[in-house]
Amino acid sequence: MALLEIVKFPDPSLKKPSEPVAEFDEALSRLIRDMSDTMYAAPGVGLAAVQVGVHRRLFVMDSREEDLGLEVYINPVIVGGEGEVETEEGCLSLPDFNETVTRKARITIRYQKVDGTLEEGALNGFRAVIFQHELDHLNGILATDRISRLKRSLYTRRRLRQVKQEKQEKHG
Ligand code: NI
Repeated sequence: MALLEIVKFPDPSLKKPSEPVAEFDEALSRLIRDMSDTMYAAPGVGLAAVQVGVHRRLFVMDSREEDLGLEVYINPVIVGGEGEVETEEGCLSLPDFNETVTRKARITIRYQKVDGTLEEGALNGFRAVIFQHELDHLNGILATDRISRLKRSLYTRRRLRQVKQEKQEKHG
C-alpha cells in the first residue's frame, strides 16, 4: 500500500487543467491503486489525479452507497444532465471546507475503464455529485469556485491563516 501526498489549496497546480490519459499500462494501474489507497486512508469519497500532483484526466471515487465499492473514471465526460441538487461538499484539497454547492441531479456520462474500453452510464444522487466535483478538478476548478465570492474570500482568508500557522509550527 502506497499513500500519496495530497496537494492542498492554495497550491497553484490545482488550477491547472489535466491532459487526457493515453497509455493504459501498468503505470496507470499502479497510480489508480495508490490513489484509491490514499482516498480510503484520508478518508474521502473521491480523489482526482491532479490532487496527487499528476495532471491526467482520471479520478477514483467510492460513495459508500449500495456497496458499489471503488469506481474508476478515466477521460470522463458528462454528455447530459438534468435537475438540480444542493449538497454540503468537502474536498481533500480544501482543509476544513464545508459549503453547499449546486450540481446537476442526474447526469449521463462517458468514460474509459482501466483497460481502455469505452463505457457509458447514468448517475444520480451522491454519486452524480461526486462525479461532477471530481470532473471539476480535472478542469482546474475547485469547489471554492462554485460558491459565492463572499464565502470564497472568507474561506481563502481562513485557509491562508491556517497555512501560516502550520509553517510557524513546523519551524518551531
Ligand atoms: Ni475535491
